Amino acid sequence: MDEKNDVCINKQLNSKSYWIDSTNETNYKALEKDIKVDIAIIGGGITGITTALLLKNEGFKVALIEADKIAKGATGHTTAYITSQHDIIYSNLIKSVGIEKAKQYADANEGAIDFIEDMVKKYNIDCDFCRLPAYIYTTDENYIDTIKEEVEAAKSLGIKAKYIEKLDLPFSIKGALCFENQAQFHPRKYLLEIAKNISSNDCNIYENTRAVDIEHDDLYTVITDTGFKVIAPTVVLASHYPFYDGLGLYFARLRPQRSYVITAKIKDELPKGTFVDAGEEGWYFRSQKYKDGQMIIIGGQDHKTAHGGDMMKHYVNLEKYAEKNFSIEKFLYRWSTQDYITIDGVPYVGKLTSSSENIYVATGYGEWGMTNGTAAANILRDIIVKKVSPYQDVYNPSRNISTDGIKNFAKENFDVAKQLIKGKLQVGQYNIELKNDEGKMVEIDGERYGAYRDKNGELHIVDITCTHIGCELKWNSAEKSWDCPCHGSRFTFEGDIIEGPAVNRLNHYKESDNAE
Ligand code: FES
Repeated sequence: MDEKNDVCINKQLNSKSYWIDSTNETNYKALEKDIKVDIAIIGGGITGITTALLLKNEGFKVALIEADKIAKGATGHTTAYITSQHDIIYSNLIKSVGIEKAKQYADANEGAIDFIEDMVKKYNIDCDFCRLPAYIYTTDENYIDTIKEEVEAAKSLGIKAKYIEKLDLPFSIKGALCFENQAQFHPRKYLLEIAKNISSNDCNIYENTRAVDIEHDDLYTVITDTGFKVIAPTVVLASHYPFYDGLGLYFARLRPQRSYVITAKIKDELPKGTFVDAGEEGWYFRSQKYKDGQMIIIGGQDHKTAHGGDMMKHYVNLEKYAEKNFSIEKFLYRWSTQDYITIDGVPYVGKLTSSSENIYVATGYGEWGMTNGTAAANILRDIIVKKVSPYQDVYNPSRNISTDGIKNFAKENFDVAKQLIKGKLQVGQYNIELKNDEGKMVEIDGERYGAYRDKNGELHIVDITCTHIGCELKWNSAEKSWDCPCHGSRFTFEGDIIEGPAVNRLNHYKESDNAE
């Protein structure tokens, strides 16, 4: 029992992502000397890995550098829906950008599904890939018109969509949108195989190599924390959040969001498909091959990063939802992830800024990284090789965005400024009494710090001023991390970076340091 929240927390849950737990850790070496390549790719998720292979196959010498291990960040914490069905998007897109660009978005994502299937066949990858329908259902009559409108919008763009009234789920629904022939897979089984095809012919992957800056002369020089550099005429920023802004003002145009996942063995089989609840709770679930049987993956509880209160309650809510709606035999895994949302809901893929040359970005996939990340890799390959992509306009990072979108986003981002000011002015009211495995903000000599006492009783103190641009970090009790409410950087209780855009770690002090 968690006394603070008065809720039960299932202690048996493995807190590692199933995708990571069920695959071997990769072991690519770190950058050990300065290198010169044709294209430097920063970030080893689905976008970076796919882009690297596509460009290698075009004859370029590529280097992919990853701050941690490949396919272990957002890509390792996805729910791995492969679909062009991205919540209710097409009816809104047709209104905001017109039918032509909405069709670009639909085609890019439908094409991404086919591309992944082709890669699975071409490289003979055993990754649980299967085609199935994707559904958005509602249990609330008020959403029926919205769903029907989305069906018509999707059909007008060439997607095989239909409205249905019933689904064979353990609870009743009022109506649903169905996209046919969508897919799902095990993302790491897929990507680790793709990655194996990158390292040859002077192309390489470097893990544990964090890009910390980029200098531009005739060529780009990517400076890394190993002390070595990657020099290249072309750079692709595929690091989830672009650590290098290049005056693109991405920090003002991306909103970080966290969401939560649990998995469980269930007694009754789930119908074939991926499922999303259209309601405000935003539950989503699908089945996944697990050992000799199946498990259910359930997600939801989205909130802006560092704004979700006590994080453990989100897992508890997921467990309660699971127990209410499915015949749970045993809970298995829990994990959370971070997504970045753009102003108009369409990712930024293309030239970093309208005036920059040969430096490209791909970011802001929302919760739809498998198809958007794959689409981004194809768009970037086309722009780099052919100077043009059929989907470049809708994804253009420098596109004009409707004033309504900007207004809403400005309201959200006002919070960033508020956090900066509030964090510095409030006086902390904390002392340093902490139980084992507890963390909180404390005040020491008038300065605010983050404190966490680990399971062995060792006290860890960090500076909680985010090293990106200085917002104050908040404690995440579920992940034992310090999270930034502004642009989503995350740090371990020892100050190491879990997630950028920050490129510098936090200062960290241990109680035992004083004893030395
Ligand atoms: Fe931007 Fe923390 S991530 S200030």
